[in-house]
Amino acid sequence: MKKIVTIIGARPQIIKSAAISRAVRDEFGDQLQEVIVHTGQHYDENMSSVFFDEMNIPEPHYNLGVGSASHGKQTAMMIERLEVILRDEEPNGLLVYGDTNSTLAGAITASKMHIPIVHVEAGLRSFNKSMPEEVNRVVCDHLSTLLFSPTKAGYLHLKAEGFSPKTTPPYSPDTPKIYHCGDIMLDNTLFFKDVALQKNTVIEMNQLQSKNFFLSTIHRGANTDHATHLTAIFEAFLTILENFPSHSIVLPLHPRTLKNMEERLEKDFLENIRNHERMIIIPPVSYLNILALESKCDLLITDSGGLQKEAYFNEKPCVILRPETEWTEIVEQGNAVIANADKAKIVDGVDKLMQKKLKFPPLYGDGSAAVFVCEQIVKYL
Ligand code: UD1
Ligand code: UDP
Repeated sequence: MKKIVTIIGARPQIIKSAAISRAVRDEFGDQLQEVIVHTGQHYDENMSSVFFDEMNIPEPHYNLGVGSASHGKQTAMMIERLEVILRDEEPNGLLVYGDTNSTLAGAITASKMHIPIVHVEAGLRSFNKSMPEEVNRVVCDHLSTLLFSPTKAGYLHLKAEGFSPKTTPPYSPDTPKIYHCGDIMLDNTLFFKDVALQKNTVIEMNQLQSKNFFLSTIHRGANTDHATHLTAIFEAFLTILENFPSHSIVLPLHPRTLKNMEERLEKDFLENIRNHERMIIIPPVSYLNILALESKCDLLITDSGGLQKEAYFNEKPCVILRPETEWTEIVEQGNAVIANADKAKIVDGVDKLMQKKLKFPPLYGDGSAAVFVCEQIVKYL
């Protein structure tokens, strides 16, 4: 039996972990033991615990309880607390997802303890190191032993950075193995889509059954931490509502964005947004609820990495509120446009995408990425 410690902390990692935990439970129960460590980076009920029951994720064995803090402090607290756990658990490997501070802390701690790192969502690049996530993912990739890229582009980035596709076992941080294996987030969308349509509560609660709507989420520091960017995005929303008089915008609001809207937006402007009858601002929703919203909306407007892809999985166009994206293939296909926090580009992006007939050929695998990851862990760690 191999033992793996999985690190989760931020909302998207909790969601991603459901796919691996499901594969471990259903197909590798006698070969792979998973010990789950929650760093506590996200801690509100609707940013963390709501996902465990709904997605059948095992309760974490440990919660480091770090909460919110500056990047240095948050990462340092995680490293200090995780080191003790890894010393006790002596796992065969440590699995990290994506690019958050929890990912970075896991990678640094394990590498110093000579524990092989499995990086799920390896190789993605924005080529913008002012993003904390870009720093986290580059460091993590270069410390990892098994690297799983969800996309061809990610796999090619790794090759361009010197990772050889020809290494042979035993793999190590100096002779790592790279894979292009599809996206575990697609595994989850396929697994939960039907149940989301049956069991969601958000559509009825917000009387969206017969409404046309766009779905939006915003949480990137580059948008939330600048009054000009936040203002431009919401001005764009008001114009979109004028241009599409039978549409609403549904905005499940990340706590970071709520805080910054209250601190940074002009009071009257904020009131206008809040009072607009077709601007539906709600707290963050559960996974089944967001899947239902994604499936019923006409288009997504987001700076979230996860939602850009879930738009594609649900065959919906997407306006990306960032200056670039790691998910370049959806832009190349013409299913998404990059608008940054530029009012004219956001408004124009919605107009153009609403008129286009789009196709969504498979780009992210077939829903079996998590099983593939587990197979490789069992084989090579
Ligand atoms: C983090 C990740 C980001 C990921 C996002 C997913 C890093 C550097 N950033 O960004 O890559 O896309 O999670 O959502 O790791 N807060 C709460 N309650 C919570 C969590 C956060 O109120 O449960 C508020 C706090 O004011 C906190 C702020 O949100 O300071 C930011 O949280 P943090 O985890 O630092 O960054 P995110 O923006 O959530
Ligand atoms: N998500 C959710 N409820 C919400 C908003 C997002 O369950 O109110 C899910 C979303 O479907 C996706 C994940 O959270 O699976 C994405 O997380 P987030 O946008 O916070 O981070 P990112 O993907 O940008 O790192």
